[in-house]
Amino acid sequence: MTDVRSDDTRQAIEAEQATDASWWRQAAVYQIYPRSFADADGDGLGDLPGILSRVDYLASLSIDAIWLSPFYPSALADGGYDVADYRDVDPRLGTLDDFDKLIAALHERGIRVIVDIVPNHTSNLHEWFGEALAAGRGSAARERYIFRDGTGDGGEEPPTDWESVFGGPAWERVEDGQWYFHNFATEQPDLNWDHPEVREDFLRTLRFWSDRGVDGFRIDVAHMLTKDLSEPLPSRAELELIPQDGNHPLIDRDDVHEVYAEWRRVFDEYDPPRTAVAEAWVSTSERRAKYASAEGLGQAFNFDLLEADFDAAAFRTIIADNLAQAQATGSSTTWVLSNHDVTRHATRYGLPALAGRPVKQGTEWVAAGGPDDAIDRGRGLRRARAATLLLLGLPGSTYLYQGEELGLQEVAEIAAEQRQDPAFFRGGEFDGLGRDGCRVPLPWSADGASFGFGDAAAHLPQPAWFADHAVDVETADPESTLSLYREALGIRRLLQTEERLDWIETGRTDVLRLVRPNGWQVVANFGTDAFPLEAEEADRVVLGTAEDRSVPGETTVWIAPEGLLG
Ligand code: NOJ
Repeated sequence: MTDVRSDDTRQAIEAEQATDASWWRQAAVYQIYPRSFADADGDGLGDLPGILSRVDYLASLSIDAIWLSPFYPSALADGGYDVADYRDVDPRLGTLDDFDKLIAALHERGIRVIVDIVPNHTSNLHEWFGEALAAGRGSAARERYIFRDGTGDGGEEPPTDWESVFGGPAWERVEDGQWYFHNFATEQPDLNWDHPEVREDFLRTLRFWSDRGVDGFRIDVAHMLTKDLSEPLPSRAELELIPQDGNHPLIDRDDVHEVYAEWRRVFDEYDPPRTAVAEAWVSTSERRAKYASAEGLGQAFNFDLLEADFDAAAFRTIIADNLAQAQATGSSTTWVLSNHDVTRHATRYGLPALAGRPVKQGTEWVAAGGPDDAIDRGRGLRRARAATLLLLGLPGSTYLYQGEELGLQEVAEIAAEQRQDPAFFRGGEFDGLGRDGCRVPLPWSADGASFGFGDAAAHLPQPAWFADHAVDVETADPESTLSLYREALGIRRLLQTEERLDWIETGRTDVLRLVRPNGWQVVANFGTDAFPLEAEEADRVVLGTAEDRSVPGETTVWIAPEGLLG
């Protein structure tokens, strides 16, 4: 690796970032799906002590923060997004004491911690839902959820014909004949956000984790909490025609921002203020900006690149639009290529254009698998590396998903009886393989039970080819994707000063070139013909996604500013 950082420069930047209240603006955040990261107690499920045992690994990635997907008590009807208790740890994953130890170890290494808050729905095993079922019709306990009488003879039919995001009906009948609403799986009853106790309880949850030292929150389906379910309820066909402009009965309602204004007051009780990022699938970037406002959550995921093909023009438009939007609102933008809900980008980019896109179902994205023989995995990985290196050179923050640093492909070879994703089982409009393929436990070593994940078989089956991508194998290989991520993330902090970029015209429609205010350049070649650099510039290339630095096809390089290399 070319060491472009003097120790003094690096330490000065790191010290400044450690105390900076706006650390989140250009952070590299690494998402951990706890049940699939590392299994310390050998039960096949990843756990908090497993993550603790890998803190050195996380530090070796030079990330600024981790985001933990839910680790709360859950029956795993939706991979932990069915939360039975918001203020505890699933006993299979550890204890609150383990959580405290983990956060202390991460903070000691300068890594911040973001946890997932799932406010739209609870698990059906949450105490409140048990009370609602027991207390019966018309009870105060039912008011915390969305219960309605059915239609038709004896209320046998659901209140409406609405579909859940995962397919199938969005209403479930309970023993006494009433129905409850669930946007997602049956085991995820939606909360009633008009209820003061619901609002109060989430403030308590935010303080509970903030008091334990959590630095920020990722808000699950932030755009769905508030609803207008006044009668008469529209049919599914009518619902689809209602514009999502702030008054839709279910999605992206303006009144949801009252909730986040209250949350902001809680975040600001802390020093530094706690941060938040909204998962909000809304119709326009202007509507997304409302979630990212300083009076609200502060930041919102921008999934535009995740939905785009590997295409220079598409990337350029998306990058320019989102930077302009962020500047206009005072937030910083977020870049994402993979997460636990979509087909891994190394696989998406190996599929013919469009075929590899995640499938949108309602307002949710779910993974679309492709027939195996249509995937060119070599090309997919080459493009994934190039896209990631471009992403890491952009102003704003980047969210990385566990395993992408190993160049992992989506795992298609999971038998139906081993699958777990409710989206796979509920069918509906959904015709892909579900999201299990990106949630298979990580390979840490080429040998051993579950490739070093733990001492037992992993809860989702790992394919034999995981051995080639194990952390120990890739650590030993300077050309591996892991080595690329480590180098790029190590240098990245030098690029991330002012949140701006200027485009340099390349005369090629398939090559993007940009310069940051401090002189760092990124050249991304989306085409197949090489893009030769001037000899003097080629000498300043410090990092590239191919061994050949003369920018061959499907390759990105970083060029250091003049004078930096001496
Ligand atoms: C979005 C989460 O990312 C996804 O995994 C989950 O299934 C839904 N929200 C429901 O909580």
